[in-house]
Amino acid sequence: MLKIDHVNAGYGDLQVLFDVSLEVNEGEVVALVGSNGAGKSTLLDIISGFVPVLSGTVEFNGVDLSKVPDYKRTRMGIAHIPQGRGILNTITVEENLLVGSYVKSARASRAKNLKASYDRFPILYERRKQMAGSLSGGQQQMLAIARALMLEPKLIILDEPSLGLAPIIVEEVFDIIANVSKTGVSMLLIEQNLIQSLNVADRGYVLETGRIVMQGNAKELLANEEITKAYLGI
Ligand SMILES: Nc1ncnc2c1ncn2[C@@H]1O[C@H](COP(=O)(O)OP(=O)(O)O)[C@@H](O)[C@H]1O
Ligand SMILES: [Mg+2]
Repeated sequence: MLKIDHVNAGYGDLQVLFDVSLEVNEGEVVALVGSNGAGKSTLLDIISGFVPVLSGTVEFNGVDLSKVPDYKRTRMGIAHIPQGRGILNTITVEENLLVGSYVKSARASRAKNLKASYDRFPILYERRKQMAGSLSGGQQQMLAIARALMLEPKLIILDEPSLGLAPIIVEEVFDIIANVSKTGVSMLLIEQNLIQSLNVADRGYVLETGRIVMQGNAKELLANEEITKAYLGI
């Protein structure tokens, strides 16, 4: 579904990603873990089209994305939940969800998807008329995921959904991710939280200063002491 092949990318003279190759197959949850500054957000930005690649290719369902502008990538089914969640604080919860379904393909099923969001996340129904900024951090992440689902995406890319949340809320967010993945949508999950993200993932990659240094089945990576020792504290 998503195929990143030998990509180099960066900002001006600063190269951030070096020869990165990564794939997400249909229905898979893939975790990309790495410490702060490794280049994780940059990798998501090359998928969304916010950062251009210097060399290498990014393909989505067989389409070379190099000539596809960012807004069209959303229409193709790529929903990007940015670091910090990207919800609009000064409009209501419901308005945020409706903004999520602006793309043409999802507009017709807006009412159905709104109901599905509320069925999945009853707390969002309760709070639908509140400003999104008044939600707790965990609820905001829930809203960001619900809003992405309003797009009827094929692939959700999530940038550090657990960042800044209390441990008990982190558990909740990972439960939501596991549940959403059961609906068949593919996910690329970027995290510093190695154990929990590999626990919900099928496969994982470890990114270190812009290079993939390890990859494999999530359970095998979790069983690899070298990885858990090196990344436990990040
Ligand atoms: N817009 C930008 N302009 C210049 N440098 C940037 C920009 N965004 C990120 N960087 C740099 O790129 C590197 C990787 O950043 P980032 O992809 O945000 O890492 P991560 O998400 O893994 O913490 C860092 O050195 C960071 O300072
Ligand atoms: Mg980041």
